[in-house]
Amino acid sequence: MSLLQKIDLEKSPEHVAIIMDGNGRWARNQGKERIFGHFNGVESVREAIRAARKSHVKYLTLYAFSTENWNRPKEEVDALMDLLVSTLISELGELKERGIQLRTIGDTENLPEKCRKQLKAVISETAENNELVLVLALNYSAKWELVEAVRSITNAGIPVQEITSATIEAHLSTASIPDPELLIRTSGEHRISNFLLWQIAYTEFHFTPVMWPEFKEEDFFQAILDYQTRERRFGKTSEQTLEELIK
Ligand code: IPE
Ligand code: IPE
Ligand code: MG
Repeated sequence: MSLLQKIDLEKSPEHVAIIMDGNGRWARNQGKERIFGHFNGVESVREAIRAARKSHVKYLTLYAFSTENWNRPKEEVDALMDLLVSTLISELGELKERGIQLRTIGDTENLPEKCRKQLKAVISETAENNELVLVLALNYSAKWELVEAVRSITNAGIPVQEITSATIEAHLSTASIPDPELLIRTSGEHRISNFLLWQIAYTEFHFTPVMWPEFKEEDFFQAILDYQTRERRFGKTSEQTLEELIK
């Protein structure tokens, strides 16, 4: 029996974010180049998208390239950028067929021209889709995003006393995207690595030792099931939370 059948689809998270980690180690463990891991990671992206749709998730955010990832060897960075372009080209048909809308968060203006061009094309061709919103975090870091938000609030001339949480939210690259209820990180690491710091204020975390190239639909379902065992209290007591649930 698939784990999918155990999921309460009415109570699936609306937004799941994933830190896709472990490509390099997975490849190295097999005596291959790190890049081999990135290539194989693309199939896991497909698995995650399929699983998200089956479990009625509406937004799936994937951390694909961080601001800090520029510090990797040039050959690896170049290969990742090429992989982004070739994957966008090969998957466009599938995205359209499955009603998936592509969006990005991060400093995409500073990606290579070929990536910007391809992203622009896929974003505009999928803009009307609404089965699932796939958000790619590219050249993203939460600290970069917060600095940008402060800059744009200041540029807009918003008076200090009028600044609220909502003002900040509206100036983040995730404006109009709900906060993720669930964050998954693969590869056994237990850290955030500069991902969505503001948006994960009340997010549930699921860490799995599975390396990203081995991540399958069932791993996604497992994460949702784990999430469904959690009691989200938002600062209230257990008793209050229970009362609200039975109301
Ligand atoms: C995640 O896998 C992919 C990216 C960060 C682009 P890694 O490349 O970080 O793999 P490990 O963590 O070194 O194994
Ligand atoms: C986080 O993974 C970034 C992405 C998954 C794109 P890293 O592998 O770069 O994170 P650290 O360096 O282990 O914290
Ligand atoms: Mg890593």
